[in-house]
Amino acid sequence: MSAAVPPAAPEVAPEMAPEGRYGALARRVDAAGRDGLLRRLRLVEPTGGTEARVDGRVVTLFCSNDYLGLADHPEILAAYTGGGAGASRLISGNRPAHVALEEALGELYGRPATLFGSGFTANLALLTTLLTPADTVASDALNHASIIDGVRLSGAKKVILPHGQPAIPAGARMAVVEGLYSMDGDVLDLPRYFGPDHWLAVDESHSFGCLGPGGRGAALAKGVVPDFLMGTLGKALGVLGAFVIGPPELRELLVSFGRTFVYTTGLPEPIARAALVALRLADAERRERLAHNARRLRIGLWQIGASALGDAHVAPVVTGERTMAITQGLLDKGYYVAGIRWPTVPRGQERVRITVSAAHTDAQIDGLLDALDGALR
Ligand SMILES: Cc1ncc(COP(=O)(O)O)c(C=O)c1O
Repeated sequence: MSAAVPPAAPEVAPEMAPEGRYGALARRVDAAGRDGLLRRLRLVEPTGGTEARVDGRVVTLFCSNDYLGLADHPEILAAYTGGGAGASRLISGNRPAHVALEEALGELYGRPATLFGSGFTANLALLTTLLTPADTVASDALNHASIIDGVRLSGAKKVILPHGQPAIPAGARMAVVEGLYSMDGDVLDLPRYFGPDHWLAVDESHSFGCLGPGGRGAALAKGVVPDFLMGTLGKALGVLGAFVIGPPELRELLVSFGRTFVYTTGLPEPIARAALVALRLADAERRERLAHNARRLRIGLWQIGASALGDAHVAPVVTGERTMAITQGLLDKGYYVAGIRWPTVPRGQERVRITVSAAHTDAQIDGLLDALDGALR
């Protein structure tokens, strides 16, 4: 039997020549490469706990958002059973696991929860459902891309608040901020963003599970109940997906009009089951260990003269132009830490961003501090 002959590649249509069908894309790739904007994916193979094989060697991760060390918990891994939803939840994809998870989250906050496939799509639905082009929204200057895009898609007029300054204009419909800023590691003075005449929406992506009573986030830690809250299931809970909390009216509107709820497949059952188990495992003991590790890291950074921004489990150290050389030096010594560059942060503000987890040991943190001390000298 002769080997199958692959079909001949179609000839490029003459009108596409001489640049070719994808020539315009190639020019953009070249330009981005010249500007140093092309990003590369690094293969990270978990080997257990906070360690993974990166570039062929086992290193300790200090850049994961798995803040409670739950991602590979045996009870969570065992919960990944069941199938894909096969349709949007409004058609035939609404599964018992979705309902159980929404009930558990609703009980935690005392208000209805609505699930989404990711924090990004949760923010898009929340902002586009609540805001109209007739509204004004006050948005902190360091808000995440998903908030920026949600506001853009809503058509609302945006007033950008300098980071941490709650100068919310009169007549604004909403102020939107994050609970814990993941590039600066800080929690804003959230009570000052609350007001009788506008809604407050808080994205608790990096604080849900970690901060506040019962891990309910930074806003509650500061004594504020936001009108609307978004939390992710992919960071502290170590799974995937997200949820939005708000009054019953919000739930009604999201289920009927939230485009990233209505026009997308429901979460696979294994994800919802795993998240439900993770929610139970995200307990006070893990939060205390996370707080202990954050303190140990921050005190250690101060002792080596590299004090970090902010005050929680995300510890960014501004290192400017040396950032990528420092992160490579740390990787060579067995510590994988993220280097954050422009355009994610302003030029000159490039930073080594260290995230700790409840699963790190004191020895791992001390080892990182030793390596960083050497790399900074
Ligand atoms: C503040 C903030 N909001 C939303 C998201 C998106 O969350 P998810 O990863 O669940 O899509 C992120 C994740 O990077 C984030 O940092």
